[in-house]
Amino acid sequence: MVNKTKSCVFISGKGSNLKSLIKSSRDYNFPIKIELIISNNIKANGLKLAKKYNIPFKFFPYDKQEKFERNSLLEIKKKNIKLLCLAGFMKVLSKNFIKNFRYKIINIHPSLLPKFKGLNTHSRVLKTKEKYSGCTVHFVTPSVDSGKIILQKRVLINKNETENSLKEKILRQEHKIYPQSIISIFK
Ligand code: GRF
Repeated sequence: MVNKTKSCVFISGKGSNLKSLIKSSRDYNFPIKIELIISNNIKANGLKLAKKYNIPFKFFPYDKQEKFERNSLLEIKKKNIKLLCLAGFMKVLSKNFIKNFRYKIINIHPSLLPKFKGLNTHSRVLKTKEKYSGCTVHFVTPSVDSGKIILQKRVLINKNETENSLKEKILRQEHKIYPQSIISIFK
């Protein structure tokens, strides 16, 4: 594939989904190229990945949402970014920012949406004794974790499941469905 879509990934922490996207994007036929990584956290491990894989990155603090979004939009426009992937980005984006991007923003969430939107997903799932959990890739809209679903993967919750084991089990699936979702939206 010659014309890969220029993309940006927003992160806040570990960056394991970022890593899976970087790896996939190195495949010749993968539809996007990651041209920019933006973090609101200077200590995010994902920034180490940006350095390792030689991908341009920026840290913008999030003390003021408006400033973070303005800084990010400037970089995004400079680089002619057409798709924005949120990967463990722990902040909410404003309606204006999302509109500005014409809704070409996708996110991964560690639950079977529309169930368990928001934070602390795994502990809430375990408390309500769900039989299954999973992960979802969806388009981002101003209402949190509510946009159109692109792909979901279900996992079975074991009897002795802990928050940590569930998180790891779901992350393994996240690393598969995020790249698959991107392939599917370009089909
Ligand atoms: C993932 O579980 C993702 O679904 C959620 O935050 C976590 C980030 O993990 N939004 P990582 O930073 O990609 O390792």
